[in-house]
Amino acid sequence: MRKKVTFVGAGMTGSTMAQLAAQRGYADVVLIDIVEGLAAGKALDIQEASPWAASSVRVTGSTEWRESAGSDVVIVTSGVPRKPGMTREDLLATNAGIVRSVVSQAVEQSPDAVFVIFANPMDAMCHVALEASGLPATRVVGQGGMLDSARYRTFIALETGTSPRDVAAWVLGGHTEATMVPVVSNATVGGVPLTQLLAPDRVRAVVERTTRGGAEIVGLLKSGSAFTAPAYSTIEMVEAILLDEKRVLPACALLEGAYGVEGGYVGVPVLLGAGGVEQVFEIPLSDEEAAAMRRAGDAVKELVSATPAA
Ligand code: 2OP
Repeated sequence: MRKKVTFVGAGMTGSTMAQLAAQRGYADVVLIDIVEGLAAGKALDIQEASPWAASSVRVTGSTEWRESAGSDVVIVTSGVPRKPGMTREDLLATNAGIVRSVVSQAVEQSPDAVFVIFANPMDAMCHVALEASGLPATRVVGQGGMLDSARYRTFIALETGTSPRDVAAWVLGGHTEATMVPVVSNATVGGVPLTQLLAPDRVRAVVERTTRGGAEIVGLLKSGSAFTAPAYSTIEMVEAILLDEKRVLPACALLEGAYGVEGGYVGVPVLLGAGGVEQVFEIPLSDEEAAAMRRAGDAVKELVSATPAA
């Protein structure tokens, strides 16, 4: 039987993800949204593209949770995006209520799914989803590091005049401007250390642009936030889980002591497979980067304690 993947939220982010997933063709795709007709309309449009997209999967959309039943992966994109001038943290109270509600309904239909959380502030929303789902932490993972690393690799490539495909660079830590940790100490281009290719002030500029990458797009769009790079970043994780690829990717996982963080969701290199987060890896970091990881852990725990209860 074909695998099944559900995207919760049929806005720009969820529907772009659904389109990419349908195009890859490894799973039936479901879109869920509370707005009558939105998920159904977007899904039908994607389905109608299938002859030219060379895709044989089913794409459906609904307001009804039962449509998502038996999903292998559920991606939570619902929630409000930020407006210019807002931080991701400003969305905490509104999105916590939305994430709690959608996750508890989705898990009833798909108790064996891996949940990928994208709603912001993503790190804190992972805690909300973990509690609302009652799932083991291995099956609740956040997407932020994939997107931030994509931005970091792109900006490094633009600055060095190289292909982003040859840039190996990670953004760990949190998915907020204050807590992101673009790792410089092991960033390379084709194996050449970044610090050999760029002067310190250019490295600083790339790091700064990366941490403000989401806000740069929000500022340009004026309404709504980025959705294309987020969609590609998320689909890479979805594929790793659905195809049990055992990829090592940056994702937000519950840490129980790694990187000096006890009981906090933080972006780290993880092994992603059918079981979700199958392993967390600790990589060597500079003292400054290691301290920033611990601060990211403290920050997410602070946000969690400020999250309104159900
Ligand atoms: C971003 O960084 C929406 O958090 C997302 O663009």
